[in-house]
Amino acid sequence: MSSIIKTENLRKKYLLEGIYIEALKGITLNIHKGEMVALMGPSGSGKSTLLHILGGIDIPTEGKVFIMEQDIFSLSEKKLARFRNVNIGFVFQFHYLLPEFTALENVMIPIQIYNKKGAREKAENILIRLGLKDRLNHKPSQMSGGEQQRVAIARAVVNNPSVLLADEPTGNLDTANTQTVMELLKELNRKNNVTMVIATHDREVAEYCDRIIFLRDGVLQA
Ligand SMILES: Nc1ncnc2c1ncn2[C@@H]1O[C@H](COP(=O)(O)OP(=O)(O)OP(=O)(O)O)[C@@H](O)[C@H]1O
Ligand SMILES: [Mg+2]
Repeated sequence: MSSIIKTENLRKKYLLEGIYIEALKGITLNIHKGEMVALMGPSGSGKSTLLHILGGIDIPTEGKVFIMEQDIFSLSEKKLARFRNVNIGFVFQFHYLLPEFTALENVMIPIQIYNKKGAREKAENILIRLGLKDRLNHKPSQMSGGEQQRVAIARAVVNNPSVLLADEPTGNLDTANTQTVMELLKELNRKNNVTMVIATHDREVAEYCDRIIFLRDGVLQA
């Protein structure tokens, strides 16, 4: 199997009020194309930090990230942004929807930029699939936390990314909606061969995955 996500000795230090916090202490990992991986570990263990770096949203202090054999931090800022938009879908732990746009518009934004044709229908279909038929024209402030989370998931998958990085995508959802979301993700994984890394505290979510990676204090557990 070919590797699609590879890291070499990733380290991340944050400097906060004169004190260094080492969030990642040398992460080397390999994820194969089409794998669905759960990223688990206690709060503060570095899951979000790792996902942000894999997605090129945050920069490591040391080490390298290869996505589809591309050393992503060797790219210019502009090329990295383009690479991310084409290849990577990201679901943030805190949704970051654009407040002035409706659910449908928030989902259409990535496809409007790169592939105008059929954007609306595609965005609508995913939102409907996620149980948001009656929320298409609501703005984030007019939706519950769980509804916003599902909009953020729709936005991340609408472009058919090769890699989906999801940070606690079901953190605000009840059991029924967790299952709906995980079934959609599993289907995208199986049908479109989307490689996924999903940070979660939920065993049930991890059970949908092929493999679990554990982090503790910034170190991978065997
Ligand atoms: N911008 C920052 N500045 C300073 N320290 C940070 C920053 N972001 C994260 N940290 C620290 O890095 C460590 C890892 O944080 P991270 O958010 O990756 O944890 P996590 O595993 O995602 O936790 P959770 O399960 O609560 O989401 C924590 O100790 C956190 O306090
Ligand atoms: Mg986190």
